[in-house]
Amino acid sequence: MILQGANWLLTCDKNNTIIQDGGIVFDDKIIEIGYFSQLKEKYPNITSYEPKQNSVLMPGLINSHVHLEFSANKTTLQYGNFMDWLHSVIDKRDVLIEKATSQYIEDKLTQMYKSGTTSIGAVSSYGFEMDACLNTPINVVYFNEVIGSKGDMVDTLLADFNARLQSSISNKNSSFIPAIAIHSPYSVHPFLLREAINIARELKLSVSAHFLESSEEKEWLEKNSGGFLNFFKNFLGQTTAVTKPLEFLNQFKHLEHLSFTHCVEANDEELEKIKELNATINHCVTSNRLLNNTKLDLDNVNGINLSIGTDGLSSNNSLSMFDELRNALMIHTNSNLNGLADKLLKAATSGGAKALGLNKGILEKNKDADIILFSLADEIEEKKNLSTHIILHTKEVDKIIIGGTYV
Ligand code: BEZ
Ligand code: FE2
Repeated sequence: MILQGANWLLTCDKNNTIIQDGGIVFDDKIIEIGYFSQLKEKYPNITSYEPKQNSVLMPGLINSHVHLEFSANKTTLQYGNFMDWLHSVIDKRDVLIEKATSQYIEDKLTQMYKSGTTSIGAVSSYGFEMDACLNTPINVVYFNEVIGSKGDMVDTLLADFNARLQSSISNKNSSFIPAIAIHSPYSVHPFLLREAINIARELKLSVSAHFLESSEEKEWLEKNSGGFLNFFKNFLGQTTAVTKPLEFLNQFKHLEHLSFTHCVEANDEELEKIKELNATINHCVTSNRLLNNTKLDLDNVNGINLSIGTDGLSSNNSLSMFDELRNALMIHTNSNLNGLADKLLKAATSGGAKALGLNKGILEKNKDADIILFSLADEIEEKKNLSTHIILHTKEVDKIIIGGTYV
């Protein structure tokens, strides 16, 4: 058992409770939080670390949506237009995937925990990053992705998906948790969708899907026209979409841990359905900006759980959650700054835990002890600025605790 103190303890609970001169007692789970001095009296014989000046303790960050297999992209893919980007991914994916060796991805994962991330939702297209995910101390919810809209390919694609899923299930442990991803409404045949979701229900796996990321996707699904028409005609010989947005969402009933990534083009009815499904929106603001997509209207998603993802390095220049949070703070110019910062830290912790189905993301009794500790450069004069300054100034953290162990 250990007692760790800090000047500022952010619980990231629903009330955003902050304890000044706080402490946390933990082994692999959190045992108690409170004032450091009182905990020191109550637990006099355990190892304890005094609060350092301007130190902050908070739950480890949860990056709910990342594609590690595309980690080798820096200047290869095209940004600024969604269709150009998608074409460039299809052109260059083999080159990029070959460059992203296990060691390369492990190094990225190391940078991720050094910058405060203790859990990720990793979308896996091929299963090539599984070894790296098994070797990292970061908790990985491993989303085996199903993709393919062509009817005559569904049996082969389902068999390939099942093989990858089984391989991840055979490697399951307390920090590597198999899950299922549906690529998107435009790219997954209804048969594959139904089969994958039935498996998720049966095995009680978390599920995630990209949804309404671009105006081209919306136009294709609603009207079978726009930028996607030529794409589907040329690559897949199709002139009509395989589903409509609401029809797609309606397939996701009775899943306990469900998230939809992007949703920037979702209308009120679709957002209402996402709420009804008790699903999370994975917000990836940098990716949306780089592919020239719309930004999520945060005022419109009240009542829906929000989490934060970096997306892959295929549509971001960083996998650091603090970099992502800084971008989110700057991009959502309509929101009150300090309120937005509080909301973003909650989305990056407890919001992500709900999306992924993890007992984490809040500093409270019985949650897993995934905790980060770092120090601000100077004193906080106004407590209401705390989240803002944390987001603005934190690049790397000093201590990372995952499952009660210092990494
Ligand atoms: C498809 O298989 O339908 C597909 C794959 C990638 C992007 C778009 C569509
Ligand atoms: Fe993504």
